Amino acid sequence: MKIVLLGYMGSGKSTVGKRLAEKLDLSFIDLDEYIENNLNTSISEIFAETGEIYFRREEHRFLKEIFDQQDNFVLALGGGTPCYSNNMDLVLNHTDKVFYLRLSIGKLAERLRAGKDQRPLIRHLPDIELPEFIGKHLFERSPFYNRAPHILDVDKLDDDALMETIEKTLV
Ligand code: S3P
Repeated sequence: MKIVLLGYMGSGKSTVGKRLAEKLDLSFIDLDEYIENNLNTSISEIFAETGEIYFRREEHRFLKEIFDQQDNFVLALGGGTPCYSNNMDLVLNHTDKVFYLRLSIGKLAERLRAGKDQRPLIRHLPDIELPEFIGKHLFERSPFYNRAPHILDVDKLDDDALMETIEKTLV
């Protein structure tokens, strides 16, 4: 079984993905971590040293590698993954168990304020500008995210309820 979680930065893809994988006895793959382990560097360093275009190329390459090499997993994509290099087509050609964890701008801003420094796309932004940045970004990205066959409103769900909702759609 191939389960894919997508959504904006801070939507809980990795946290929920890890727990879901444990519960379903599947391996968990975090695409960002997979890239970091394979390139032996951090996402922040990749952005700083080689730039976003290089990152997007590598992100696509490793996403393809995962689907070529593995059959059973819960995979958490990066926030931008669905929006580049036909990655959504690639994902949807392999599985329909694709879940968009959708949060409001307010909730995302609240969650992202804390760990901003680890995130190259928002680390330079003052907190006050986060909601506007997220809003514009979501406007561009939503058409890609909305291709997910399952869209879950996470604002109203805690992690347990979210996992339960996902599990129910798998039977
Ligand atoms: C990005 C999200 C990050 C990471 C990179 C770019 C984005 O992943 O892939 O910093 O474009 O939204 P997370 O969503 O796991 O933070």
